[in-house]
Amino acid sequence: MNIFDFQRKKQSNEKISMLTCYDYTSARIVANTSIDCLLVGDSVAMTMHGFKDTLAATLDMMCMHTEAVNRGAPNKFIVGDLPFLSYRKSITKSVEAAERLMKSGANAIKLEGAIGNEKFIRHMTDSGVPVMGHLGLTPQLIHTLGGHKIQAKTEEAQEKLKNDAFALQAAGCFAIVLECVPRKIAKEITELLSIPTIGIGAGPDTNGQVLVFQDLLGLNIDFKPKFVKNFMKGFSHVSESIENYVKDLQSGDFPQNEHCYES
Ligand code: KIV
Repeated sequence: MNIFDFQRKKQSNEKISMLTCYDYTSARIVANTSIDCLLVGDSVAMTMHGFKDTLAATLDMMCMHTEAVNRGAPNKFIVGDLPFLSYRKSITKSVEAAERLMKSGANAIKLEGAIGNEKFIRHMTDSGVPVMGHLGLTPQLIHTLGGHKIQAKTEEAQEKLKNDAFALQAAGCFAIVLECVPRKIAKEITELLSIPTIGIGAGPDTNGQVLVFQDLLGLNIDFKPKFVKNFMKGFSHVSESIENYVKDLQSGDFPQNEHCYES
């Protein structure tokens, strides 16, 4: 997969599948699937480090997880998230942040919002760094958005979302994530843009979908927003296996001869 495949898939109406991934073991599993694209999202701060939001993600954290995912899935197209404020200080500091992510194994970077980012996006794409945009619910802005909630509900907000999407496309983004927006506006933007949209909580009409690894596998029982589908009951499968280990240990069923070294 490369940025031209994203474009090709939009043109041929083939859905783009994207999944977050944060560690080597998971990347090894995903590497053997037909998933198109991995996102080392700043949601890593929540899913892997237990923080309450993505603001806690640091560049060091993003680079470490990107390196691990690249080691596990070197043949997948990997998008690395630029963390909170790392691309809002100066062009020089933003470029340094992007450089570190790319050198950690990302094939592209993702950033949130349009206003104030256009110049940096253009500079990045002109410098050989593909950029994925992210609009709608942009979790790095939770304090100005008033929490993790659906966006673009009014006509005015939908107009702004459309303008932001056009601005990102004009700046050079190769794709845009649309998070938690009504399906109607996601469909309209998808039809208007020439670059693909990838939805999460944006309905079925975007050019692709992205899910968080832990949500797809049902590993996170405390979090079940409307747009998540658990494709496995991961939490109970894993905890049952751990209980079986404890039970077998207590009953003497584990370890057996096959698990022993002979002298
Ligand atoms: O960090 C993340 O997981 C994301 C997805 C929700 C798109 O940005």
